[in-house]
Amino acid sequence: MKYRIAWMKGDGIGPEISDAAIKIITLLGDIYGIEWDIRFYEMGDEAKKRFGTALPKETLDGIRSSDLAIKGPVGETAFESIVYLRQTLDLYANLRPAKSYKNLPSLKPIDVLIVRENTEDLYKGIEFKINDIAVALKLITEKGTRRIAKVAAKYALNRKKKVTIVHKANVMRITDGLFRDISKQELKMFDIEVDEKYVDAMSMALIRNPQDFDVLLTPNVYGDILSDEAAQIAGGLGFAASANIGDEFNLFEPVHGSAPDIAGKGIANPYSMFNVLVMALDHLWISKNDSSAMHAKETLEKAIESSIEKGYLTPDAGGKLKTEEVTKYLEQELKAYVR
Ligand code: NAI
Ligand code: MG
Repeated sequence: MKYRIAWMKGDGIGPEISDAAIKIITLLGDIYGIEWDIRFYEMGDEAKKRFGTALPKETLDGIRSSDLAIKGPVGETAFESIVYLRQTLDLYANLRPAKSYKNLPSLKPIDVLIVRENTEDLYKGIEFKINDIAVALKLITEKGTRRIAKVAAKYALNRKKKVTIVHKANVMRITDGLFRDISKQELKMFDIEVDEKYVDAMSMALIRNPQDFDVLLTPNVYGDILSDEAAQIAGGLGFAASANIGDEFNLFEPVHGSAPDIAGKGIANPYSMFNVLVMALDHLWISKNDSSAMHAKETLEKAIESSIEKGYLTPDAGGKLKTEEVTKYLEQELKAYVR
């Protein structure tokens, strides 16, 4: 099979971890007979400096005409590029897994998937000022809630069959109330356990007993916040990946930002981008029914686990290796797995 990938390397450490991931996906393609047609596009702060916009039209067209879109982090232009893209391409489901690894210090063992609504809520961007009062509108729709609840159910069915709806309907009675009620209605149709939690209690419970949770279904803002927390419980932002998925388009990216404090030093943790590949391959398997993508994904997942277990880590995760060295070790692990 042949797939076209639109790749935006982004800003800061984006190009460093992108180059690492391109080596890995190329190797997987060779092993599993998948041909990648990777095309590079500009996006982010650098793009804005050079073209006057963080999201040039060619980039948008490139994403639209590809099977997969993969991006590194961008910097200060995050809102005008990524948040805009999520809405323009209607990438309504943001999937953010957080899983602890053997031998990687984590706060507690955790294995959750945050399913975050990605186009509504306060991040719709409806903000204005009336004299000295600033206003932001929180927008939650029935349609938007139904479709994200279905996504949560679909993923829960392949996991531990449990969904926790996260909201604050005791205060935001109409908006979060709608989110809670419609989510419950949808989830009832599936053979899964459903419970609910207020977002403040959830942020505590996630630290206290993360093992009690499987899939968390959240509106946009709460999911944004809880997913950083979950990533840190699991072992740090440097491992966390996310998928933005709609009915037509997709975009895979690390959870973290451009990390300007370590950019250019060659020590960025590339596992976030390797996990981005895991999610992208999983999407190919699900959307195209391509079993070679599934095999590639499973091999990559195992190789990532074993190289973390063996301590092939960058300084942010307590290791001493550079980005390129971690990448070389992962290549060796991959080759060992398919031998
Ligand atoms: P950040 O995620 O870039 O960095 C937070 C801390 O984590 C820093 O100490 C950084 O060195 C470390 N870190 C993050 N990823 C790492 C990795 N792969 N390896 C090693 N260490 C890593 O968040 P910050 O500093 O708040 O934001 C920096 C820029 O990123 C801002 O301009 C922000 O707007 C942007 N941003 C972009 C996002 C996106 O493209 N989706 C998401 C979040 C922030
Ligand atoms: Mg965030």
